[in-house]
Amino acid sequence: MNLRFTEEQEMMRKMVRQFAEEKVAKAVERMEEHDEFPTEIVKEMGELGLMGIPIPEAYGGSEMDVTSYVLAIHELSRVSAAVGVILSVHTSVGTYPILDFGTEEQKKRFIPKLASGEYLGAFALTEPGSGSDASALKTSAVLDGDHYVINGSKLYITNGGAADTFIVFARTDREATGSKGISAFIVERDTPGLSILPSEKKMGSHGSSTTPLAFEDCLVPKENLLGVEGEGFKIAMANLDAGRIGIAAQSLGIAEAALDAATAYAKERKQFGKAIGQMQGVAFKLADMATKVEAAKLLTYQAADLRQRGLPSGKQASMAKMFASDTAMEVAIEALQVFGGYGYTKDYPVERFFRDAKVTQIYEGTNEIQKIVISNHLVK
Ligand code: CAA
Repeated sequence: MNLRFTEEQEMMRKMVRQFAEEKVAKAVERMEEHDEFPTEIVKEMGELGLMGIPIPEAYGGSEMDVTSYVLAIHELSRVSAAVGVILSVHTSVGTYPILDFGTEEQKKRFIPKLASGEYLGAFALTEPGSGSDASALKTSAVLDGDHYVINGSKLYITNGGAADTFIVFARTDREATGSKGISAFIVERDTPGLSILPSEKKMGSHGSSTTPLAFEDCLVPKENLLGVEGEGFKIAMANLDAGRIGIAAQSLGIAEAALDAATAYAKERKQFGKAIGQMQGVAFKLADMATKVEAAKLLTYQAADLRQRGLPSGKQASMAKMFASDTAMEVAIEALQVFGGYGYTKDYPVERFFRDAKVTQIYEGTNEIQKIVISNHLVK
């Protein structure tokens, strides 16, 4: 595999790095202090064509490759992990399901709006009683004339407070158990019976909206059924394969930012008459951190490349997500240690990297679930 980026991919990287450093960086403080969703930043990302990077031009996207999309999440997340996850969830699990499983009419109706950033996408699978055990979901959808009537609740919906469309998973066959009898729906924000509840107060990822959803006799037109009735669980799983590459890229961005901050500080900070980076206790930490970041990068871009080529990439996506998120956490912890007492204050960004890294080991499937997915690929 060739990890040299093409001219087009390099242009994407430069453009996003500039946008992140000039625009996103300025929004970080507000997002941190007020946990405010970065509406303006998302609007500008739409104007730059970032909200539909891998989406075909025919549906209003930028029609670039998966690597360019991963580069964008990686670069954004070096500055703001929250902005990185907004883009990842919007594209991978918010838009891809319609592109991959939607009818032509659904694609024409929703994708141009999502790809331009006019609409923000979200994915509603998790429920209060079903997180890792996703197929135990209880939300129901009953066909009544021209509508499905949805009842139930969803939890931890990334982009929830700002999303215009939700890919919602509900049980259409009450007799069926487990992964059978689950269907996927495109539910628009203003659908009667859908309530978007206040955002969770989280440890990190401030500015990214994470809400519960309540469905009370929510009337979804039957033409919003996505794919075949009863086959929704496979839609969820297939799109999580794509989503996990995005989370790997987000994790990589956090890890790289923490490594860069620690390296710069280690060169500058003097103790015992020399820079702390000259002492093996710190220098060896940096060596381990840099090696793990490099390995995470290779896994992440390998998964992106496989997906771009249309080759099986689920196993590699889970490996990349697990390894990159563990790396983000480890590197953030070590970066904080390099900074010592200063790292524990809000005067430096490493405490934010530490808080932001944690959730990457949890969402889009905990890293324990990634081990199930990877080992299933090996032994089943
Ligand atoms: N693609 C297509 N189909 C798939 C698939 C995939 N990647 N993985 C499984 N399937 C199919 C299987 O082939 C099987 O089909 P058949 O019944 O026809 O054989 C069916 O789905 C059921 O598969 P399993 O028996 O393996 O399912 P399971 O109930 O044992 O669950 C699991 C497997 C991997 C544990 C799954 O439940 C899982 O991934 N859990 C984690 C859920 C998760 O990641 N949630 C994230 C929420 S979204 C989020 O976090 C986004 C965010 O906000 C940031």
